[in-house]
Amino acid sequence: MCGIVGCTAQGGEVVAGLVESLKRLEYRGYDSSGIAAQTVQGIGIVRRVGKIRELEAQLQQEPLIASTAIGHTRWATHGRPTEANAHPHRCGKLVVVHNGIIENYLELRQELGASGAVFQSETDTEVVAHLVASLWQGDLAAAVRAAVGRLEGSFALALMHEDTPEVIVAARRDSPLVLGVGEGAHWLASDVAALLPWTRRVIYLEDGDVAELHPTALSVTDMAGKKQHRPVVEISWSAEMAEKGGYAHFMLKEIHEQPTTVANALLGRIAEKSGTITLDGFNIDDDTLRSLRRVSIVACGTSWHAGQVGRFLIEQDAGLPVEVDYASEAIYREPMLGKDDLLIAISQSGETADTRAALRRGREAGAHTLVISNVAGSSMARDAQSVLLTYAGPEIGVASTKAFMGQLTVLSLLALKLGAVRGKLTNGELRRRLHELKLLPHAIEAALHSSDAAKDIAAELAAARDALFIGRGVNYPIALEGALKLKEISYIHAEGYPAGEMKHGPIALIDASMPVIAIATHAATYAVIAGNVEEAKARGARIIALVSQGDDRVAKSAWRTIVLPAVPENLSPLVNIVPLQLLAYWTAVARNADVDQPRNLAKTVTVQ
Ligand code: G6P
Repeated sequence: MCGIVGCTAQGGEVVAGLVESLKRLEYRGYDSSGIAAQTVQGIGIVRRVGKIRELEAQLQQEPLIASTAIGHTRWATHGRPTEANAHPHRCGKLVVVHNGIIENYLELRQELGASGAVFQSETDTEVVAHLVASLWQGDLAAAVRAAVGRLEGSFALALMHEDTPEVIVAARRDSPLVLGVGEGAHWLASDVAALLPWTRRVIYLEDGDVAELHPTALSVTDMAGKKQHRPVVEISWSAEMAEKGGYAHFMLKEIHEQPTTVANALLGRIAEKSGTITLDGFNIDDDTLRSLRRVSIVACGTSWHAGQVGRFLIEQDAGLPVEVDYASEAIYREPMLGKDDLLIAISQSGETADTRAALRRGREAGAHTLVISNVAGSSMARDAQSVLLTYAGPEIGVASTKAFMGQLTVLSLLALKLGAVRGKLTNGELRRRLHELKLLPHAIEAALHSSDAAKDIAAELAAARDALFIGRGVNYPIALEGALKLKEISYIHAEGYPAGEMKHGPIALIDASMPVIAIATHAATYAVIAGNVEEAKARGARIIALVSQGDDRVAKSAWRTIVLPAVPENLSPLVNIVPLQLLAYWTAVARNADVDQPRNLAKTVTVQ
């Protein structure tokens, strides 16, 4: 799981620009990075272990002057994060950068080794350099096409050869790759965010595409060499949208963008007066929706938590049974899906390998498929029958916040749509619910005012070794997500629990050193959760409680409270998650942790 970039331009110096682009891909991996450039002395390579700023510093000492270059930021899978394992990898006059995994690399390594290849690294990628070099006959694209047929696994590749100094060849299978189109320049990158400073005109490559980039020409073929037409798409995200916008961290900026995220996800999709929901990209007709027997949701990480909230909403609003599975588990069981089932894959990136595999299996089993994603041109968005975009804009912080909010908003709309079509909700109820949804950005705005209170609590939470998050019903997944946020970025061990399960184990852990974060806002379960809070308090726990305005019971037992605007229970996850994100954020800041790029984590997990 890595990020790749490349640029070939008519004159000019492209290396500094590629370093900028790599910084925008650091979320994909950041244990080492490197650049290869076509200089007047031939291809020069600079690689460094660590973050991209290390590479930048090295390039000051050892500049690469070139108008054609490729680069890489790495998240190690095969081979430790060392300079020798950092990309680009070279074989003679040829260099390559790679995102993905070459599954048959051991076999290829043996074969190439037998004909004399000497390997410098422990990576799977280096076999690509040797394989393409062995097939080189003067035309890089032809050599790449001949080589990719021999590769098993996933890849986004970019290659250069010293004998064709203006040419970059790119190829993809199961890893994202997008081209940028400019005046006298062409780019490539793993994600459109890396291209935005240079161009908004992009081409999404499809699986099996091989592209040849020159400064003034661009062509795409399939692996057999047949010309492919790929449309140029105009991207509306601005470069600033992908930057920090004055906040100390991307995560804090993204938390604060959430009122807009909700508004964007609703924009153009709801007509409150008539009580209609129009879901662009949703191609499943009403008759099919009425005949559905079951919904199955697959996802990973934060998106899986969104799926758990979605389950509650769809069951309640549409009366449809829903199961939610970790994609990484679903793919090892019988799919149990058929033509009366709707499979929903939730994925911010649309690239998570396990979720994509689960989606494919569901499609093959005959289920209707829907992807909820933040990335329009992503692999999953193209694999599924229907796509609902979350329109959250680029999310750079590794810990997901606004993308989760977008997912919850889209799931709320979907539940209402299913409820209306299946006759579970009357038009009057639907209109009321749409009105409540429309007011939601204000409630989220108000929840953001809890930032100071969260910061205050974080100053003490930062000293904790463990923390328990409890919730019930639709807020149980929010307890899970609150705990995940805290462990991801502050490295404090945290568990989310359904409050009713406290008595069956976790209560044994409680003493004065164990903070218990309780979600106790207005809900049908309020009285029972208030009881759970009192039980924990009686065992000496320090309770941090989320309560609704006007609360007069839980607040009395709590060590600290965060007061939130009262909203209907089914929308409360979208408000309650905000202070939990802020609590995790400020705790990580208090512990001096790397908020946007937590250790060992990557934003997009394209390996199983
Ligand atoms: C990684 C990220 C998480 C994310 C998960 C699923 O673990 O660090 O933030 O929730 O992948 O990613 P997806 O793009 O499929 O939502």
